[in-house]
This record gives sequence, structure tokens and C-alpha cells, in this order.
Amino acid sequence: MSKQSQPSTTRLNPPVFNRIVVIGLGLIGSSLALAAREKGLAKQVVGISRRDSTLELALSLGIIDRAEPSLEAIAPELGAGDLVVIGVPTLTVPAVLKDCHRLLSSDVTLTDVASVKGSVISAAIDIYGSMPSQLVPGHPIAGSEKSGVTAATADLFADHRVILTPEVTTGTSHIKGVSDLWSGVGAIVTNMDSQEHDEILAATSHLPHFLAYSLVDTLAAMGDNREIFRYAAGGFRDFTRIAASDPVMWRDIALANKDAILVILDQVMDNFKEMRKAIEGGDQDYLMDVFTRARDARNHFGKLLDSKALNSPMTEKTINYVVAPGGNAQGDIRVPGDKSMSHRSIMLGSLADGLTEVTGFLEGEDSLATLQAFRDMGVIIEGPEQGRVAIHGVGLHGLKAPTKPLYLGNSGTSIRLLSGLLAGQSFDTELTGDSSLSGRPMGRVANPLAEMGAVIETAPGGTPPLKIKGGQTLKPINYVMPIASAQVKSCVLLAGLYTEGQTSVVEPAPTRDHTERMLRGFGYPVTTDGDKASLSGGGSLTATRIDVPADISSAAFFMVAAAIVPGSDITLRHVGVNPTRIGVINILRQMGTNIELSNEIEVGGEPVADIRVRYAPLQGINIPEDQVPLAIDEFPVLFVAAACAEGITVLTGAEELRVKESDRIQSMADGLVTLGVDAQSTPDGIRIVGGGSSHASGTLGSGTVHSHDDHRIAMAFAIAGLRASGEILVEDCNNVATSFPDFVGLAQKVGLSISLKSA
Ligand code: S3P
Repeated sequence: MSKQSQPSTTRLNPPVFNRIVVIGLGLIGSSLALAAREKGLAKQVVGISRRDSTLELALSLGIIDRAEPSLEAIAPELGAGDLVVIGVPTLTVPAVLKDCHRLLSSDVTLTDVASVKGSVISAAIDIYGSMPSQLVPGHPIAGSEKSGVTAATADLFADHRVILTPEVTTGTSHIKGVSDLWSGVGAIVTNMDSQEHDEILAATSHLPHFLAYSLVDTLAAMGDNREIFRYAAGGFRDFTRIAASDPVMWRDIALANKDAILVILDQVMDNFKEMRKAIEGGDQDYLMDVFTRARDARNHFGKLLDSKALNSPMTEKTINYVVAPGGNAQGDIRVPGDKSMSHRSIMLGSLADGLTEVTGFLEGEDSLATLQAFRDMGVIIEGPEQGRVAIHGVGLHGLKAPTKPLYLGNSGTSIRLLSGLLAGQSFDTELTGDSSLSGRPMGRVANPLAEMGAVIETAPGGTPPLKIKGGQTLKPINYVMPIASAQVKSCVLLAGLYTEGQTSVVEPAPTRDHTERMLRGFGYPVTTDGDKASLSGGGSLTATRIDVPADISSAAFFMVAAAIVPGSDITLRHVGVNPTRIGVINILRQMGTNIELSNEIEVGGEPVADIRVRYAPLQGINIPEDQVPLAIDEFPVLFVAAACAEGITVLTGAEELRVKESDRIQSMADGLVTLGVDAQSTPDGIRIVGGGSSHASGTLGSGTVHSHDDHRIAMAFAIAGLRASGEILVEDCNNVATSFPDFVGLAQKVGLSISLKSA
């Protein structure tokens, strides 16, 4: 039988393939065929099924253009530019691969959709003798408990992940074709090692299905099961929806991914045994611990999934900012909570005795990474819920060994501060992070900690991961810091909590002192004598309440927005104005901006104020070097102010900017040059020739700039749009979520014309 349907829908895209042949018209195969047909991704979509009735249905539902009973019937027509998709259950894949080997030339692209990748790859190697370069193993993480051709929907894959597990020998043109196909149907495509794929899926997909099948089967076997099911609503329904899935598919998955599944199944069974013991023995604490930890982890991961954020080993859709030229800078806003204080509230709250309640907590990826690290060490942390967090402190010696490396994402503050307090624990830890963090210098903390007797191993080059050996006796030191770094100072002081005697840090220039202030807030004495901060080990922290003010580093973007647009007037509420953080105010004032502070109060030992910024013409200046540590995170956006000022601005003594989330001197110099600014980087700073502030827009040019995966670079160039002559495309802005989750919303509110574009 060979049947053709009516010509398909309008072709929206140039076709990726000449023909797409889908073998197996189950839910996935037929949804892919339908989506590919609707999106015009092939000149012809062919369906293969052994069942005539399936083919008839697929034709009549407009899922395929042409129906064939077997691969044999179409194989002679296939060659380069054609794709065969194996859409059959996992254990049937080898039989289909044998047909492919026998019938298809090596230039036909081949892919599959099975949920287990290791078994597909080893079957291919058995059949072909080695991994065929035309085969791109794939797995769409999409589906439903419904099966078959009638359940097909064209949007099944939209915004779902598809994991490809090519081998080193897989042909790049084949990988590109398959990747383009999946992107074309709206999926987010990720490449991954096949073994890693199988382990992750065993835990996140396979295990939940087996638990659901097992629970329903247990209840079904009980005496009066009709009565039981009648009352089994709510939780039962939610939990067991997936037990209605296709048994053949799940039998195949269970057998094909046996090793990885057994590992995770054993872990859950051990956990069950412990829970049984606790219930039998009335161990309330155990149950509260497990339930609270699990609830919070569920909420945390739910949030991460919603915001497509951190901890995911999969790459996400890249977000770009499109900033239209011009716009206003007017309004009255509150930016999110201070990042530095948010980190420290979790750390000190966890080490305190009692319940610490935090408000204003920054729900950005960096501070959430710190929060998750403490959960991984057994601390029960409720929230965050609209900036509220409740931390059930475990005391200085109550942390538990984490079962896996602590993943700290992009966050330098997390890894450096944690290394100090983990050096004093009885257990070993490993600290890891994303690719940016993995390139940042850690010798600056490992060296003083080693002097204190800590045992810490870094990767070659002094970068993460950090392996910290527990059980060491730390001794106090008097550390004279070679660089002005609050992270290093805090790290040494936190390690000092675990020593007998007085630990001191002397800084070459004042740096943010939130650790010292917050320790005092927790009742822990810290003395400051000029450039020296000291504490003695052996005390304890008492739980407290913390109100985290708005982050001056986030406020800085809108301060500069108002400073560069004539007629602007912006008020930023409840901003932390700790004297060690106000370099941005001092520098902008020196350049001419009109800045007023009002409602100045002290909250939990930290000064807070409303900041009103009004436009006044800007002058270029030589930035005083003593302001560098006080404005260390604000320079990217200050460079935008400099580019809009009259005259030349020169920054020196700021080599630290080269080892932030990106090399901020180079990232900014490159982007500014793209925008037509005369900006020259120097080893320790930058020289920027301002374009003058006499006209409202067009001081800066337009074009495409890159964030270098650095949140503050992305936001700085968004602000630059206010004075640009044309559109600025800022590439790769996902990282803004590390410190300023709703930057775009607030930017639009004050009058920037900024929109998101995913790539
Ligand atoms: C921070 C200190 C600074 C700063 C970072 C936050 C902190 O880093 O750049 O964003 O919270 O202690 P350095 O200590 O490396 O200067």
C-alpha cells in the first residue's frame, strides 16, 4: 500500500529535509510528523506502520503526506537530504536498525526518539560494526499518558527539551539536520553524553513511572478495590496519572535502562525503610525533617523550572534583549533585595541557634544557590515566598555532610564564603559551579585558609572545583589581604569562627562589611579597628530577624538611566546605603548628577535610604582610586554614564574587574567600541571619551553587543539604549536572573523600550 494525502498546509520555513520518514506512528512519531508537516520542515512527510488502520488514520488526520507499510517500500528513493526517524518502542529499535542498515545508504540521516540512549547506541554498534556517523540518537522529553496516532498534537514539543546524544564520530551535518528539525517544531535542543542522559532520566522520569505503577497495582490488588478507588481522589489522582501510560513502552524502558534504574530504585527503597522505621517508632523529628526538606526542594525546583534557571545540566533557550533607542527614565520603584546580604542571611541563619526570619531576600539564582547548598547540608529552610525565608538554624556545628558536590552556579560569593566555613567542618565537601565560576581565581581564599591549617585542593590554575577536607583543626591568623576583597575577608572571618583564639583580617582598602555587621546582628562580637576586623572563635550565633534592603548594585542601573537622559527623575526606595557600597553615588555626583538621599534609617545595623536621581549634564572625571572597592560591581553601567558625559573619564587601579563574572574591562570596552564609543582598555582600567550630554539620543551608536554571560554587562548595555541612535541587541542575557530577576519588567516600568527575544 502506498497512499498520498492532499498537499499539506502552507510552508512556513524553508524545508530542513527533502523527506522525513517516521517509522512508528505512536504519540511521539505521529506528533513529530504532524508538527513537521505543519511547520513545512520537509517537502514530504512519510509515515510507516505495519497497521493499515494506523496509516489510514494518520492520512485522514493530516499527520502525514504519504503512507507506506515498510521501509523497504521507500528506501530506494532515499538519499542525502532525507531523514528517517525511528519512533518505535525502545526494545524494537534494534530490529528497525537492522532494516536501516540493510536498506539505507550512509548519507540518509537517522535518528530515534527512544527514552534510553545507551541501549540504542550499543545496538547500533552491534549491527553496523561501529557507531554509524549518520545516526543521531535523540530523546524528546515530552509526552502524555495518552498514546497512539489519535493523541498526536503539533505542539507536543513546543518549549520541551530534546536531548541529543551524538558520539564523537557522529557527522556534524546529520547533527545539525536533526537539531534544526527539533528546533523547528519549537523544542529546546540540548546535547548530552548518553550515559549521563540515562542516569538522569532513570531518576527523573523512569523511577516516578515505576512508583506510580507499583502504587496503583498494590491498591488494585487489595480486597475491595472498587471501594478504595472510589475514595482515592486528590493525591492519588495526581500521583498516579502516569500509571495510565503505555505498558509496552515502560516495560522496554525498564529493561533497557536496567543498571541506572536499579541504582536509584535501591536508594528509594532504603529511604522507604527509614521512613517505615520512623513511622513505626513515632520519630516525629525524622518525619518533619524529610517532609519539610522534600517540600522545600520541590518548591525550589518548581521555581527553577518555571524560570528555567539554575542547576539544570541542560542548556536553555538563549534570551537576548532588544533595546529600542530613546525612552524615559521616570518613576518610583523598589529594586530586589541586596545580593550580598541575602547570601549572608542564609549562611549565618543556618549556623545560628533558633529560627531566623528574613524578609526582602533576593530570589535570584546566586542567592538561591547558597540556599540550596545549605539545604543540601541538612538545614531546613522555608521559602522563599515573596522574599520571605525562615531558616531553622542548626548551630555552628550542626551542618550535615552533603551527599553530592555543592553546586554554586555563577556565584563567586557563595563559593568563596562557603569555603571558609566549610574548612571548619568535620566532613569533606566539594564545591563546583558553572563555566564562568569554574574559571575564577580561588587561590585568594585557598591560600589564607591553608595558612589556618585547612586542607583544600583546587583545580590546576587555582580554580574550582574546590575539594575541602573536613576534620582539620584550624588555627587563628592575622591575615594581611593582598587585594581589597570582601569575599576573602568574609571567608577568613567565617573560618575564624571555628578556631580557638582571635582571627583578624587587615584590608588594603575598605570593602563591604556586611559580614561583620550581620555577625553582630546575630549576637557574635566582631571588632573593627581601622582597617582591621577581628573575631574570636568558639562563640555561638543567636537567631534573629533580617530585613534585606534593596540592592544598590541593582539600583545603580536606574541611577545611571536617570543620569544620562535629560529631564529624568527616578526615586529608588529602601536602598542599602552602607558606606562601603556607595561608590556609585559618589562617582555620579562627582560627574554632575543630582542625587538626593531621604528617609535615612538604620535597619538591622545597615543604613537604608530612598535615593532620588535627577538628570544634570555629566562631566568626564578621573575616578578616584579609593572609590574602586566601593563601586566594584557598578563599573559596567558607570562606563555607560562616562560614554554619555562631556569629556574623558579615566579609571585606574581596577584590575579586579578583569576577574569578575567576565573580564568586565574588556567586555565593556568591546561593546562600547561596537556602539561607536572611543573606549580603550588598560591593564587596570579604561579610558572613555564621552560623546557629550547635550542631545537626548544618538550619543551612542547601535549594533549587537555581547554580555559575555555576565549579568551586569547585559544590564549596562540595556541602559545604553536610552542614548543610542538605533536598536541595540544585547546577546545572551539569561544570566541577569542571577542578581535581578525582573530587570526587564522594572526597566519597562521606568520607560525603557526593551523586549526579549529568544534565540
Ligand atoms: C561581594 C564582594 C565583591 C563583589 C561581589 C559580592 C560580597 O567581590 O564584587 O559581587 O558579597 O562579598 P570581591 O570580594 O571579589 O571584590
